[in-house]
Amino acid sequence: MHTPIVHPLLLSLAVSIAVVTAFSPSDHYLIDCGTTATTVVDFDHRSFTGDGSSPVLSATKSLALKNSNPDPNLSPIYHTTRVFTKPSDYKFKIKEKGPHLVRIHFYKSDFKNIGSTCHDQFHVSANGYVLLHNFLAFKGNPRIKDFFILVDKDELAIRFIPADKTSFAFVNAIEVISAPKDLIANDYVRSDQNIRHAYETVYRVSVGGVKVTPFNDSLWRNWIPDDEFLKLDDGSLKSYKKLHFDGRINYRLGGASREVGPDNMYNSARLISSLDDSIPKQNMTWVFPVNKGFSYLVRLHFCDIASISIGMIYFNVYVNGNLVYENLDLSSLTNYMLASPFYADFVVDPEKLSDVIRVDIGPSRLSMSHAIDGILNGLEIWKMSNSMSSLDGEVCLEQLESKNQSGGQMNRLLSLTGAVCLLAIAFLVMRRKTEAKDTVGWSQVPTDVSEIDLKSSYPKSAVVNV
Ligand SMILES: *[C@@H]1O[C@H](CO)[C@@H](O)[C@H](O)[C@H]1NC(C)=O
Ligand SMILES: *[C@@H]1O[C@H](CO)[C@@H](O)[C@H](O)[C@H]1NC(C)=O
Ligand SMILES: *[C@@H]1O[C@H](CO)[C@@H](O)[C@H](O)[C@H]1NC(C)=O
Repeated sequence: MHTPIVHPLLLSLAVSIAVVTAFSPSDHYLIDCGTTATTVVDFDHRSFTGDGSSPVLSATKSLALKNSNPDPNLSPIYHTTRVFTKPSDYKFKIKEKGPHLVRIHFYKSDFKNIGSTCHDQFHVSANGYVLLHNFLAFKGNPRIKDFFILVDKDELAIRFIPADKTSFAFVNAIEVISAPKDLIANDYVRSDQNIRHAYETVYRVSVGGVKVTPFNDSLWRNWIPDDEFLKLDDGSLKSYKKLHFDGRINYRLGGASREVGPDNMYNSARLISSLDDSIPKQNMTWVFPVNKGFSYLVRLHFCDIASISIGMIYFNVYVNGNLVYENLDLSSLTNYMLASPFYADFVVDPEKLSDVIRVDIGPSRLSMSHAIDGILNGLEIWKMSNSMSSLDGEVCLEQLESKNQSGGQMNRLLSLTGAVCLLAIAFLVMRRKTEAKDTVGWSQVPTDVSEIDLKSSYPKSAVVNV
């Protein structure tokens, strides 16, 4: 009656010589939207090219907004915004086909003042995948949407589609970067039904550590701390001990590479360790809310930064209550080397998925007293695109495109309201510009106004039956 919902897929990947060769992506676009200037982000030493001076922006009509009084703590890529009232594309020439990381940055500011006739709600697609459907950005912190997409053409088109005639789309920055080949195995991208999945990162967590920022990650990712996902059934923190390791992480040929997980993630963990010669009868548990209706790829990162010698660490891993890895022997999986990273992937099917993914790590029958009986260093959860090639709802791109784009009458109405919408924005920013200097507002970039004419040595391991 209780059929397993975790698919018995499990693997750790063979990896290139990442330990000695630095990652250098062949496609590497960093675009700051709504400006012609090049923006240097001091926090992570990267420089973003303004879309106003880059051929990637292929929209004929758009609006560039600039925040004249930005929060000094806010990365400069969020100081300018590109606004679209019609479906519009950024087109990236792809030098090397294959998996790409796509990150889209949104920072919502004072748009709501534009008035009720106009609001930001939109769809985003990329080469046929629906990435966002009826997306609404909330005010507050910037939102970064992080995707993994297999590009099999020599162009990647990222399209912004206003949800209806009264809405507009906006974007602050876009990153398109060739992904390392070992990041997500091809088997996962192509499913049995020959569906090519796109992925969206829904959680990327450094367990027991502090936030890892793009500066400290060779793929410029963010890893957030795990505290908010820990479930403490008995209110006790005792067996959820945090550990930080100051030594060197031993990346191995055939193990996880630095691109799979950075030192700053692997060098922290939470542990279960035996106390007073007895093995605790307890799991460490993390709970992650997810949307139903999708498959998820769950990746658990392990690195034994805690044991005093090899061959002493054994534990069980459960995903949504199913034993997915029994007696995980971290020493043998890392070729009997301490502080050497290993990761395991599990695919969780949507059928029986409740609205959470729960991970338990606990002692196994091989666990030893005086030793470590469970460890976790990091965790990632990716949503996999569904059979409609969507990562956001049961909707395919054709449906979004056909919506209100067809029909002469509709189109005319659309372009009319589109123009009204644009005017409303322009009016707002101009008014704000003439207001007192100390009001926080958005102003238009003078040069960009309105009509812009821009031209492991570990093979796939044993199937685990749950
Ligand atoms: C990078 O990591 C080091 C610790 O390894 C930390 O001291 C530093 O603050 C981090 N830098 C950023 C920008 O996150
Ligand atoms: C750990 O979690 C699993 C799965 O939820 C459960 O079957 C097992 O009984 C738990 N172990 C302990 C000691 O609580
Ligand atoms: C788009 O137009 C169709 C009619 O062509 C209408 O039924 C639908 O509700 C519209 N959708 C949106 C999102 O405005």
